[in-house]
Amino acid sequence: MPEPSAHPELEREIARRRTFAIISHPDAGKTTLTEKLLLYSGLLRTAGMVKNRKGKLATSDWMGMEQERGISITSSAMQFEYKGLVINVLDTPGHQDFSEDTYRTLTAADAAIMVIDAAKGVEAQTRKLFAVCRLRRIPVLTFVNKLDLPGRDPLDLMTEVEQALGIHGAPLDWPIGGGREFAGVIDRRRMEAVLFQKTAAGGAKRAEFETLPLADPRVAEKVDEAVLAKAKSDLELLEIAGNRFERDAFLQGEVTPLFFGSAMNNFGVELFFDAFCELAPPPGARAIDLPDGDRRHREPTAPFSAYVFKIQANMDRRHRDVLAFMRVCSGVFEPDLMVRHERLGKAVRLTRPHSMVAQARETLDVAYPGDVVGLINREVFRIGDTLSADGGFVHQKLPAFQPEHFARISPRVTSDRKRFDKGLEQLIAEGTVQRLGYDDGDGHSPMVAAVGRLQFEVLQYRLRDEYGVETVLTQLPYQCSAWLVGDFAAFKLPMRSAVARDAAGRRLLLFVSEWDKKLAARENPDHQLLDLA
Ligand code: G4P
Repeated sequence: MPEPSAHPELEREIARRRTFAIISHPDAGKTTLTEKLLLYSGLLRTAGMVKNRKGKLATSDWMGMEQERGISITSSAMQFEYKGLVINVLDTPGHQDFSEDTYRTLTAADAAIMVIDAAKGVEAQTRKLFAVCRLRRIPVLTFVNKLDLPGRDPLDLMTEVEQALGIHGAPLDWPIGGGREFAGVIDRRRMEAVLFQKTAAGGAKRAEFETLPLADPRVAEKVDEAVLAKAKSDLELLEIAGNRFERDAFLQGEVTPLFFGSAMNNFGVELFFDAFCELAPPPGARAIDLPDGDRRHREPTAPFSAYVFKIQANMDRRHRDVLAFMRVCSGVFEPDLMVRHERLGKAVRLTRPHSMVAQARETLDVAYPGDVVGLINREVFRIGDTLSADGGFVHQKLPAFQPEHFARISPRVTSDRKRFDKGLEQLIAEGTVQRLGYDDGDGHSPMVAAVGRLQFEVLQYRLRDEYGVETVLTQLPYQCSAWLVGDFAAFKLPMRSAVARDAAGRRLLLFVSEWDKKLAARENPDHQLLDLA
């Protein structure tokens, strides 16, 4: 007889959780797909989700700037239930608001959904986000979207995913036609044709579809002959030359299952979502580091532990508060829990927790591994902090990402210097921007760097709004950077490039263009240039 479980309820809750992020290049359809997932489920909790578009999901108004621009600047999360599972979606902002937060949020996910526009294929931002998935071995499912529009050949798209991202693609469904002739998909595992019925509702309702065995003569009656023949010949080719889907390889991040559909029309969304629930892993063991440098893995059934992946200020202007978002990695979280705060080396009580923090704040009673909890915080928490019931370890360090925007900043009037220093220090601790050490004799204007350009606007806005300091910001001409590994004395630095130090003292090379960066890599074959450190 198997041994009775020591944590039956905890194990049950872990098994039914799926925590993921959606990655895509702007406009590929991330927002639309997210909305459709909600359509198919009962929404439980929501926070500042997606963009502000009339008639769509409510958006947060956490920052005045967000209201002015009508976009969501910081990542947030929401939770809902689908077919007995508890789904946590972490929002990873794209567009201009792409930032360190976007990357850090990904580390809190157990899986990612990559949305690709069928006409455009793999685009720049998808590549960057995918690099983080690879680094953290986060399994990725791919949804090729907008099949209702004229797009590229699905075989071409699959090859592009494989080549651009260095991963095998294993299609679990395959489109029947595309553009105006998009009739449905073939579910390859069941060898069934799933034929969509167009509705006039414009995607506001679940899509109706009819499922028939592929060999059923009715399929040929309903689908244009040439379209069906092309889909079948693609399938034959895939049988011979395609990659088999193996769940282990997927969980290791070596294979991505591919799905095709149209998020706007709900075509293929339900099929995809069901496959996602079946394939995506529940929260598993997470890497932790011990004080002696040893790396271990901590099971989700271990006593409570979590780490802070995001700090967000001013979510509610009346309270002027700062929220620390933590991802629960193991054990059960309950309000008023006493935990060990590893960086501060002391015990803290986790009071006033909030679930994903909707505008009307809901107080959370319990959270399990995979869930995200927002804690009201002034100066106690920083990004990367580990909290746990037992102490003595930290969760794997969050990676640093190549900044692409660089500037000098100083207070407009000298008498604001003290408040400026304090504000800047706090905002750096929150991860809004990073400070770089850069010796060019201008010690009075610290050099700041960010992944997303909008971060500088956020920085200036918050220094003005929260610290009452007007600032002058001068952008520097650098456009990309890389950490240098190897002997600096022997490194040949291209003209117009510069060398700075990050907060950890590592050398960061700054380049005025990608071309210069490539040149530096070519001319220094014995050195390594890293985008992620
Ligand atoms: P994003 O979050 O990845 O940036 O993309 P988003 O969902 O906002 O989609 C970008 C645009 O593409 C939207 O059009 C959206 O309606 C459209 N779209 C998304 N999925 C599909 C699809 O399957 N088929 C087609 N034909 N279009 C799709 P928009 O004009 O920018 O906004 P809206 O006025 O339609 O809301």
